[in-house]
Amino acid sequence: MDKILIEGGVPLHGTVAVSGAKNAALPVMAAALLAEGDHRIGNVPDLADVRTLSRLLAHMGCRVERGAGGSVEVRVPRDASPEAPYDLVRTMRASVLVLGPLLARWGRARVSLPGGCAIGARPIDQHLQGLAALGAELRLEHGYVEARVPRGRLSGTTFTFDKETVTGTENVMMAAVLAEGRTVLENCAREPEVSDLAAALVRMGARIEGAGTHRIQVDGVESLRPVAHDVIPDRIEAGTFLVAGALPGNRVTVTGCVPAHLEALLEKLRSVGASVATVAGGLEVAGGARPRPVDVKTAPFPGFPTDMQAQMMVLLALADGSSVVTETVFENRYMHVLELRRLGADISVDGRVALVKGGRGLSGAPVMATDLRASAALVLAGLAATGVTEVRRVYHLDRGYERIEQKLAPLGARIRRERA
Ligand code: EPZ
Repeated sequence: MDKILIEGGVPLHGTVAVSGAKNAALPVMAAALLAEGDHRIGNVPDLADVRTLSRLLAHMGCRVERGAGGSVEVRVPRDASPEAPYDLVRTMRASVLVLGPLLARWGRARVSLPGGCAIGARPIDQHLQGLAALGAELRLEHGYVEARVPRGRLSGTTFTFDKETVTGTENVMMAAVLAEGRTVLENCAREPEVSDLAAALVRMGARIEGAGTHRIQVDGVESLRPVAHDVIPDRIEAGTFLVAGALPGNRVTVTGCVPAHLEALLEKLRSVGASVATVAGGLEVAGGARPRPVDVKTAPFPGFPTDMQAQMMVLLALADGSSVVTETVFENRYMHVLELRRLGADISVDGRVALVKGGRGLSGAPVMATDLRASAALVLAGLAATGVTEVRRVYHLDRGYERIEQKLAPLGARIRRERA
């Protein structure tokens, strides 16, 4: 197991490029199951989660290979074994994204229920209700979703999600593309990753309108063709580097990102007093002498992303005053607070609300990563802290950041990875 060592207090200057989006690559790879043949998915980051999904697709009978220039090539057979075993699903809950495509393509599926998660209960009831509305019969047995389509083919319908769910919208949308007739999905998630999946599906021959809005309309087709699609840049990786740039004394240019995907974050970075500029190929952010306090409330896109909450908290822990952070998407997403306190942050939590009393500085210490975005926050805190910070359990980080230490070092960061 690796750990990351950071000698903090060194100003960061320079340019860093973002990779493709994990949360777009995973659903697009799952969507490949919808069509027999050779798919090429480009700009796919080399991450643990991508490797997990590759193993899952291979387990079903696909051939998955890393191609040139960050692409993944998936050969999908005529017949696959529509099963997602517990051992693969438990390491990555996004594996549930194969359920919709399996049901749509083969009319049956056996997919392990994803277990609990550090950041919340994360049920999949909305996924299951949406698939049932399309005509699937689903029962939970021995920790698995046993699903089949009695009619052999799913049927178009109108379904309203009780709450906005990113992978729920993606799963049901993927099922609807091969259903008979029209499906109208209401209260859909509007994340850019949902729109990117829809764009890939349309390239495969699907008929989809409204992705990126609350109302998505899908007219089912008989069959789809293999896709060649480059996924969008990772807005959360970009956001993490932009927060690094907003730390006092830093100036960082992030290239390859889409500013429109980051508006809510950029607005908060401007509010804390960082300078934010659109430059050729990306965004440049420079931190002021000391951040101003600002309140942050997470929300589904285009609101402030919950996946940036922990990283933003690091900035607020250095602010000249107190900020209130409210986490509305997940019920248990403050695991990083205990570790930030070890670095000297003054943060108190009451349910979904955290009060961050800004202080003059952080001091390095050994800390433990608890989940993907919490680990990114600990790296940022280590960069800002005096002395050495040792981040352990970085396997959390590797799930969503491609070689983060190799991306930060050229900016001047004194950061390295070591065997723990
Ligand atoms: C996606 O997770 C992302 N993962 C998450 O990123 C991200 O935090 C989340 O969306 C919110 O933006 C991927 O895209 C692979 P949700 P997802 O369903 O789809 C509740 C990261 O760091 N809910 O939108 O699982 C749920 O419990 C990860 O990269 C139900 O109640 O999130 C949560 O409170 C972490 N029933 C809320 O909705 C359901 O059936 C939003 O969850 C589904 C969700």
